[in-house]
Amino acid sequence: MNLRSKIHPLSLLSIAVVMCGVAAAQTGSGPSATLASTPPMGWNSWNKFGCDVSDKLIREIADAVVSSGMKAAGYQYVNIDDCWQVSRAEDGTIVADAERFPNGIKAVADYVHDKGLRLGIYTDAGRMTCQKRPGSYEHEFQDAKTYASWGVDYVKIDWCFAEGLDPVVQYAKFRDALAQSGRPIVFSICNWGVKAPWRWGPTTGNLWRTTGDINDTYDRMAVIGFSQNGLEKFAGPGHWNDPDMLEVGNGGMNRNEYRTHMALWAILAAPLLAGNDLRTMSAETKELLTNSEVIAVNQDPKAVQGHRVWEEGALEIWVKPLAHGGQAVGLFNRTEAAFKMTLEAKLIGAQPSATLRDLLDHKDLGAIKGSFTAEVPEHGVVMLRVSK
Ligand code: GAL
Repeated sequence: MNLRSKIHPLSLLSIAVVMCGVAAAQTGSGPSATLASTPPMGWNSWNKFGCDVSDKLIREIADAVVSSGMKAAGYQYVNIDDCWQVSRAEDGTIVADAERFPNGIKAVADYVHDKGLRLGIYTDAGRMTCQKRPGSYEHEFQDAKTYASWGVDYVKIDWCFAEGLDPVVQYAKFRDALAQSGRPIVFSICNWGVKAPWRWGPTTGNLWRTTGDINDTYDRMAVIGFSQNGLEKFAGPGHWNDPDMLEVGNGGMNRNEYRTHMALWAILAAPLLAGNDLRTMSAETKELLTNSEVIAVNQDPKAVQGHRVWEEGALEIWVKPLAHGGQAVGLFNRTEAAFKMTLEAKLIGAQPSATLRDLLDHKDLGAIKGSFTAEVPEHGVVMLRVSK
């Protein structure tokens, strides 16, 4: 098989870099690094529910975050995406949909806080949200104040209906508005990589989307995830590349593919925002989303995003340096047949005595010696922790 032909071109990212050039760095104080000092973890309504959000759904999801063990595993934010808002009051205050949120957003925030969780909300830097609800353009400071008064802890700000606007300028306005709101609020920039947000994002927000939307297919997830190589230098405590939210458990990928999704997002130090129905998820989905050894890689205090160290055709090896000298390694097989993959100790600078652990299956594998070989299933991964 010609493996080369299986490689998905990483065009999105390189085109964005070439076309956009280097955006001017922002001046002024950046977002707080104490917020999102490791990649944010939580849940977001969009991937599963789209516009079908409500007070009832958010409360039930918050309950499920706790009862499923997601909270104990580190998931914290419960984020309402598009469609919660309908209009503006005469004084310009944003108004929540009274049918879907009869008690208002503050009541939902209070409920979520009582569970020891945090509430996130969504708006758009342009004139309307992507679903044509009122955007925050020219209401940036007013909206930030409103969110703070409701007890919102996280804001995702989209980029629809923003023709003629400059994301560097508009998102800086939000940064300042959130800073003045009187409440620490995680700031998620969602402009799909337009104008290379990894260049100005670190001094503007806590995370920034690097690509267009994910969907629940292996091809789309893989195109996005494996195209993140090269962006690792822009990530760190308080500022993260965001390859979009998780699709784990939504049904469009098989077990190997979701394991690849979770392992790759962990190695990428990507935000882990589950996007499935936590109330009804299978034991297999729950086990993957709450895999403590995989999450520990994502949340590792060294806070370094992983990168690709080897590729041959559609077989790739990625490494994420960990605190205390360890490394997480992903052996990824993007082909449609199982392949034996070999990790040479020299490739990752490991001593022959360095020990290996399989993180997805929780198994010690002994010393690496000169190399380690494993059969990696089609579209699958073997994820390892290599001790110092
Ligand atoms: C897109 C965004 C999605 C979701 C959607 C809502 O622009 O990338 O994550 O928020 O808008 O309309």
